[in-house]
Amino acid sequence: MLKAENIFYSYDDGTKALKGIDFQISQGEIVALVGKNGAGKSTLFLNFNGILRPDEGNIFVDGDMLKYDKKSLIKCRQKLGIVFQNPDDQIFAPTVEEDVAFGPLNLKLSQDETQKRVSEALKRVGMSGFEKKAPHNLSGGQKKRVAIAGILAMKPEIMILDEPTSGLDPVGVRKIIKLLKELNNEGMTILISTHDVDLVVEYADKVYVIVDGEIIGKGTPNEIFNNMEIIKKANLRLPLIAELFKKLEENGKITGLNNNYPLTVKEGYEKITEILK
Ligand SMILES: Nc1ncnc2c1ncn2[C@@H]1O[C@H](COP(=O)(O)OP(=O)(O)OP(=O)(O)O)[C@@H](O)[C@H]1O
Ligand SMILES: [Mg+2]
Repeated sequence: MLKAENIFYSYDDGTKALKGIDFQISQGEIVALVGKNGAGKSTLFLNFNGILRPDEGNIFVDGDMLKYDKKSLIKCRQKLGIVFQNPDDQIFAPTVEEDVAFGPLNLKLSQDETQKRVSEALKRVGMSGFEKKAPHNLSGGQKKRVAIAGILAMKPEIMILDEPTSGLDPVGVRKIIKLLKELNNEGMTILISTHDVDLVVEYADKVYVIVDGEIIGKGTPNEIFNNMEIIKKANLRLPLIAELFKKLEENGKITGLNNNYPLTVKEGYEKITEILK
């Protein structure tokens, strides 16, 4: 669905942001990209939809190699919608509804269809009732939701979200994750960058770990978060549930985990229930 082969990218000031990235996301997956500040997550996403052009390597969307002529870029961006890390880079229309309508109108959809998509998208991100409001007067978390609605309204095949939950309140985070899972169940492929390891294990099918512009690990949440070498190299931490079980094991309270810690509340609950039997 989306594939990157050996991507190198340097900024004008000489910063080597990406150093030979291979990346693949298949139809219907939810993939998380994790890595510390400055690791290259946003740069990689901007390479995925052609906003930045790799110095070396190629991007493939649905098997088509991304070329950088206008037609090829438009085709790519119809399939692949990006929600930027900073909503101010995305939101610019005078009202919320005009902002969310921008994408659908650009796709040459009718006024009726656009209107339908705008209200549906705002409803799904919990921003109905804010249609006439000026985006710059919204709170940070509200802006983030409007930015997500703007991409949602275009119904892309792949939705890429750069730290979609940063700045949201806890209930807002839950709602966005629930929405992304719903969209995924409806067939949308989803790629998320995040620092929130407790959440990643709840939703991701696959996790990529990036350090200094290189992918140092990829696998299921279980494979990644039971590999302490990767966790250390990437400046990550274990999910809190895993941390708790690790401590219990280290202090001899639990045995037999074999470096296979429960990662989610559900897994932890099941393990404890089993032990208490
Ligand atoms: N416009 C730019 N010009 C020069 N260097 C840049 C530019 N944008 C990013 N960089 C550098 O490229 C590297 C990768 O940055 P990037 O924004 O991709 O990291 P990130 O993983 O998204 O970090 P964060 O978690 O903080 O969002 C960093 O070293 C950063 O300083
Ligand atoms: Mg970033």
